[in-house]
Amino acid sequence: MQPVRIGLCGLGTVGQGVLRVLKRNGSEIARRAGRRIETRIASSRTPKPELDLAGIEHTTDVFQIADDPNVDVLVELIGGEEPARELVLRAIERGKHVVTANKALIAVHGNEIFEAAQQRGVIVAFEAAVAGGIPIIKAIREGLSANRINWVIGIINGTSNYILTEMGENDGGYGIALSAAQRLGYAEADPSFDVGGVDAAHKITILASIAFGIPLNFPGAHIEGITSITPVDIAYAGELGFRVKPLAITRATDGAIELRVHPALVPKDRLLASVDGVMNAVLVNSDAVGSTLYYGPGAGGEPTASSVVGDMVDVVRAMTVDPTNRVPHLAFQPDRLSDIPVLGIEDVATPCYLRMLAADEPGVLARVAQFLSDRKISIESVIQKYREVHDENGKRWVPIVILTHAARERDLNAALAAIEAMDSIRGSINRVRVESLDAAP
Ligand code: HSE
Repeated sequence: MQPVRIGLCGLGTVGQGVLRVLKRNGSEIARRAGRRIETRIASSRTPKPELDLAGIEHTTDVFQIADDPNVDVLVELIGGEEPARELVLRAIERGKHVVTANKALIAVHGNEIFEAAQQRGVIVAFEAAVAGGIPIIKAIREGLSANRINWVIGIINGTSNYILTEMGENDGGYGIALSAAQRLGYAEADPSFDVGGVDAAHKITILASIAFGIPLNFPGAHIEGITSITPVDIAYAGELGFRVKPLAITRATDGAIELRVHPALVPKDRLLASVDGVMNAVLVNSDAVGSTLYYGPGAGGEPTASSVVGDMVDVVRAMTVDPTNRVPHLAFQPDRLSDIPVLGIEDVATPCYLRMLAADEPGVLARVAQFLSDRKISIESVIQKYREVHDENGKRWVPIVILTHAARERDLNAALAAIEAMDSIRGSINRVRVESLDAAP
């Protein structure tokens, strides 16, 4: 049988990983796929004389690959929204299958891309877009297809997880941890996408669609980064029995879907609380099997190449399958997606950790408790240690840490605004949601 001809767009860390894996495991992969996979052409913005590209044509014009009649599958590893979107749509128009590792592309433009692919009868595979080497798309889309999914909660940004882990273990602080993540090659080109939560929001948007059969809705995601977390919060969370983790959450509630990214307190005894450093993990709760956990490297050349090449094998196997019988891109048949709305963050209810600086004088704690009670927010625990701070006038302030029971965000916002307006509260209140990861929704 003729080999399947690949056009590789991008020769960065992942592109090079793909070439290495194909070279090392080529004959095993051919035994699995049923045909040999041959890289015909590869592109990079500038020539790469340092790479061994023997037998592979090289171009600096990525669109040449989309137009090449000798390419069966375009592998998009250039990242970002444009020109990746234009490139992929052009390849689809030319009847090529596409494999991509590009989460921004799928989360933001996936609806348009899948519709074009559907019409043209080609496959767009995107396993590497979420959690790097962990085959989480396939696990949810195919392995769990018997189940009604209740929720998916993941640590899916390695850079943020690395920074929070370092801040909890060493004295280095935020800046030093971020530089280390960059040096290790985990961070995005623009690390604000990592620490600001956008990277994880792209990924959880994709997981929400395949879990619940809804169109991709990136604008609906609530996004908060980890930059408000301090070593002090990590230490208090520890005293309360929690670790602070950068979570991405999607959950089915009554008639709506939660879709949110933010740091959260996770009980120390949960497996997710032990996922440290740059490792990723995704916990899926569904009705038949219960909770299942998927753990592994979420970034890096060969881990991501593992997913990219796995997709190539899937594409090769599916090339001869009638397009109407293939695994649907978003797990559910395209004409059976439902338009369940994404829940606004104000209507989400979670327990919350609050840290504030209060004047060291009688009645302050009582008034804070009253404002919470006015909004029917119940307190689970309070820590007030005598770690006084003196201001410029010699006035004494002490930190108060409160853990609430589940409260609707709208009520909490109102209570916190009232508390922050008190003369005896200084500055703003630091708050972090709590995710207990209970099986029940
Ligand atoms: N920058 C991402 C992370 C890796 O830190 O997890 C690629 O998705």
